[in-house]
Amino acid sequence: MKKFLFVFVALFAFSGAVRADEGMWLPSLIGDKIKDMQSKGFRLTAEDIYSINQASLKDAVVLFGSGCTGELVSAEGLLLTNHHCGYSQIQSHSSLEHDYLTNGFWALSREEELPNPGLSVSFLVRMEDVTERINAGEKAADIAAAAREDGRYSASVESLYYGNQYFLFVYEVFRDVRLVAAPPSSIGKFGGDTDNWMWPRHTGDFSIFRVYADKDNKPAAYSKDNVPYRPKKFFTISTKGVEQGDFTMIYGFPGTTRRYVTSDFVDYTLNHSNPVKIDLRTKRLNTIIAAQEADPEVRIMYASKHANIANAWKKWQGESLGLERLGTVQKKQAYEAEFQKWANNRPEYKDVLPRLHAAYDELLPYAMARDLYSEAFSVVELMSAASNATRENWNCETFYKNYSAQIDRDIAVQVWATYAEQAEARFIPAYFTEQIEKYGSVEAMVDALFAESNVTSREKYEAAKAAGVDFKEDPAYKLVVAFSDISRNEISGKYNELNSEITELYHTYMQGQMDFEPERIFFPDANLTLRVAYGSVQGYEGDDAISYKHFTTIDGIMEKDSPEVYDYDVPDRLREIYRTKDYGRWGINTGTEEKPHLTVPVAFIATNHTTGGNSGSPVINGDGHLLGINFDRTWLSTMSDLEFDSEVCRNIAVDIRFVLFTIDKIGGASYLFDEMVFSE
Ligand code: ARG
Ligand code: ASP
Repeated sequence: MKKFLFVFVALFAFSGAVRADEGMWLPSLIGDKIKDMQSKGFRLTAEDIYSINQASLKDAVVLFGSGCTGELVSAEGLLLTNHHCGYSQIQSHSSLEHDYLTNGFWALSREEELPNPGLSVSFLVRMEDVTERINAGEKAADIAAAAREDGRYSASVESLYYGNQYFLFVYEVFRDVRLVAAPPSSIGKFGGDTDNWMWPRHTGDFSIFRVYADKDNKPAAYSKDNVPYRPKKFFTISTKGVEQGDFTMIYGFPGTTRRYVTSDFVDYTLNHSNPVKIDLRTKRLNTIIAAQEADPEVRIMYASKHANIANAWKKWQGESLGLERLGTVQKKQAYEAEFQKWANNRPEYKDVLPRLHAAYDELLPYAMARDLYSEAFSVVELMSAASNATRENWNCETFYKNYSAQIDRDIAVQVWATYAEQAEARFIPAYFTEQIEKYGSVEAMVDALFAESNVTSREKYEAAKAAGVDFKEDPAYKLVVAFSDISRNEISGKYNELNSEITELYHTYMQGQMDFEPERIFFPDANLTLRVAYGSVQGYEGDDAISYKHFTTIDGIMEKDSPEVYDYDVPDRLREIYRTKDYGRWGINTGTEEKPHLTVPVAFIATNHTTGGNSGSPVINGDGHLLGINFDRTWLSTMSDLEFDSEVCRNIAVDIRFVLFTIDKIGGASYLFDEMVFSE
């Protein structure tokens, strides 16, 4: 009995009856949490966070593009997000002559702000619990359609807790969003992929945009006549700084967490999916890095692709280590065993776990095939070009601007060889095998393909188009067709079928977990809807004997400075500022009064539960003022989408004072401060 009790207690400690700081909460329901937040240092009300009757903080937060967060910081539509969130825009305005990636960009007037076709920001107008309507038989699509009010808004109904709850989200979407400023990458991406997902961190990961609207302050396509958007609400900026223990809140759009999945999913991630995907991306990255090192033009062309590939690649490695360290699979198995004992005499829950396990077993080969398809087939960019070319009005400019057929060819040779080796025979198109046999090797086949295809360069494509060539006959397109057929006939159908079954079962399992642990508060998994996370500024204990402080400074930038290492090449201007201690109003004393040490704060960490999509999110203090911009998590947090460990999980933010310092001292753009509001 004793032993049982012990196991039981340990289990519940894991499942998190009340785990400080874990969770991402719906703003409209934040009333449930507000007392706890206030007891931890929040001084505003639930209405201040989310209200449909008056301006509230939600009106100052946007979904930036399709996967980041941004916040408004002026009455004239000025917006902050991360450098890595604006990266592809900054890159697209860059060339060897105007290299904004390397040198930074500072618009000196409104006229110089740069439009970004395709970029949008979405403001949440309102959210509404529609569970009863859905359960009464109304269609999600109809509810969303009605909420769009003839195109005035965009809207969607999203499932929470695996369909145990449904919410309608209504957004106002602005499509004229201009680039105002970006620091040089040696600040905005300082530490690069070497420091990515790590602490201590010294990245000034911010960029500045401005939202434009028509004369009536309504969304409008880009036009010279548009004017800066006047938001209902924008953030006051706090220059007071942060102390260990200070309350922090993050308001943003976290993308995906999977907190309530079974051990099967974690096992799949850890033992099947991650290893294969990591290996494939290692091959692509090595190829891209070598090409970038050999040619500065390629460095720019492949900057954004490189960053994207490397980001998940590194995260998966940390995630696997974290899942191992925490023993998440074993803990989930133990939890499932307890759940099953409890469920055995509850007919509604008795079968759910065995059925989930069985469905996952059946899913495994299809899930692997899908991973291989996306990481070892589709990643060859020629495949996108080939299918795009069959469309009448393909605008090929953006594609070829950032395309090197040589790199693509080198990648194809490696990843297709992996596909041929690792995919089950039934998932390999006969045409693919025939081609390899015809030429004798994957490499020879790829060489022939790149020689014969008409879409390997813009010149070839345009010449072929002018000559009326049928792109459906292109050898690259034949591969696309062969693989899509396999995907459609052998993979997706079965995969989707099993996956819907699994989702249905989770509906029951989720409900079951809630009944099993009635005291526990379950946050809804992230799904790229607006959420609030809260916690406090905290360092943490790392490996044996290592304690991490909660903040970094410019001294750390200079410690890392090494001109010959791309990721650590500090800009000369910053070296000069450091040498002369020309910190202006941004200097702080981290020493004592007798023995002062003048420095500039750079980044800080806190215990907020965040995930991908939270990049660019405002980090807010107890008064609702802006302390920093969230941009990452620490190495020991990379598994937090599956298991959150409050001892070590930390989000990383760039201190707003470092943002202001950079605007002022590096950009010489302190005129931007005129439209901001500060609390000092
Ligand atoms: N790890 C952060 C996030 O997931 C930042 C990524 C951008 N930085 C980079 N070096 N790739 O998006
Ligand atoms: N860097 C991530 C993002 O881009 C944030 C995270 O995963 O912690 O959203």
